[in-house]
Amino acid sequence: MSSFRVAVVGATGAVGREMLKTLAERNFPVSEVAAVASARSAGGQVSFGEDRVLTVKNLEKFDFTGWDIALFSIGEAVSAEHAPRAAAAGCVVIDNSSQFRMDPDVPLVVPEVNPGAIAQFHKRNIIANPNCSTIQMVVALKPLHDQFGIKRVVVSTYQSVSGAGKEGMDELLANTKVHYVNDKNPPQIFQKDIAFNVIPQIGSFLDDGATKEEWKMVVETKKILDPKIAVIATCVRVPVFIGHAEAVHVEFHNPVTAAEARAALRHAPGVVVQDQRLDGGYITPAEAQGEDAVYVSRIRKDPSVEHGLAFWCVSDNLRKGAALNAVQIAEHLVAQNLLVAQAA
Ligand SMILES: NC(=O)c1ccc[n+]([C@@H]2O[C@H](COP(=O)([O-])OP(=O)(O)OC[C@H]3O[C@@H](n4cnc5c(N)ncnc54)[C@H](OP(=O)(O)O)[C@@H]3O)[C@@H](O)[C@H]2O)c1
Repeated sequence: MSSFRVAVVGATGAVGREMLKTLAERNFPVSEVAAVASARSAGGQVSFGEDRVLTVKNLEKFDFTGWDIALFSIGEAVSAEHAPRAAAAGCVVIDNSSQFRMDPDVPLVVPEVNPGAIAQFHKRNIIANPNCSTIQMVVALKPLHDQFGIKRVVVSTYQSVSGAGKEGMDELLANTKVHYVNDKNPPQIFQKDIAFNVIPQIGSFLDDGATKEEWKMVVETKKILDPKIAVIATCVRVPVFIGHAEAVHVEFHNPVTAAEARAALRHAPGVVVQDQRLDGGYITPAEAQGEDAVYVSRIRKDPSVEHGLAFWCVSDNLRKGAALNAVQIAEHLVAQNLLVAQAA
């Protein structure tokens, strides 16, 4: 079997570290792995798997020539500059930022939902990983859409602080500590104190009153699943370290019962249904941490609309919401021989 030279760009970050872990855990066929980050952490070390240690390289000086795949997780502005540079050197970029997601020449991929889109990467040599909240929702919506036809989705998210990277996690920890000594930390990463609080803003505000994160869930769901589906999202930051939750309300074209929806979800790739109608018979973010699945619970009829369904959906935002999804895309590139094709 062929093996590949893989660069993890943003290797010192919350997602980058999870990418290294995921590559090792899934035995992705690597001949060499590079850990790349900013000049700030160049020369430092990160773990790769159980027993390997990589020395961090400076992105500014990193030459992508001869590297097969680059998994980027460094934010929009830096991706905008360096992902095209890597792509031009012949390296296939899988980018976690929102920079290229809505580019018509860049496929936006969740392997359980639209794996066929991967082959369209040639135009820019870049594949985009969707937003973490979008990924887990579309994994759960896909089998329901295939069977019952989705008309409209109303979603409220409960998003963990790791969605804002390592600094988001540091701020929750620091702010929680100062509450215990009756003090306060002025918020820096979040708009208000995140400790013992919830914040109905993720990303900046747009002209229509939605936030950027809410807009992403709308446009990305349409691009990945079906442009005809109407979506409205309210995205909320909660004081949880890892794991996003979503309350999803779906209106279908066709009749659907909770039992039929449960059966469709049970057979869907990437989904685990944990739905007992008793105390604790559902999954919470703390239980999803470190797991690969998208968990669906609380499946029930929504009698407020015709053909309505409500459910609760939870996943680890650093894994399926970012690192795992990117590695799965890389696995598809290998399985479909697309890397060989692009080198030829
Ligand atoms: N966290 C999530 O749940 C999630 C989910 C989906 C997508 N994403 C996206 O993934 C990206 C990274 O997120 P994260 O949560 O991992 O953030 P993070 O923990 O803040 O890590 C950021 C990474 O980017 C590197 N970086 C920053 N500026 C750089 C520069 N100028 N040159 C080279 N490297 C630079 C950092 O390196 P240094 O350590 O050297 O500063 C670090 O490795 C973002 O675009 C984010 O939107 C995140």
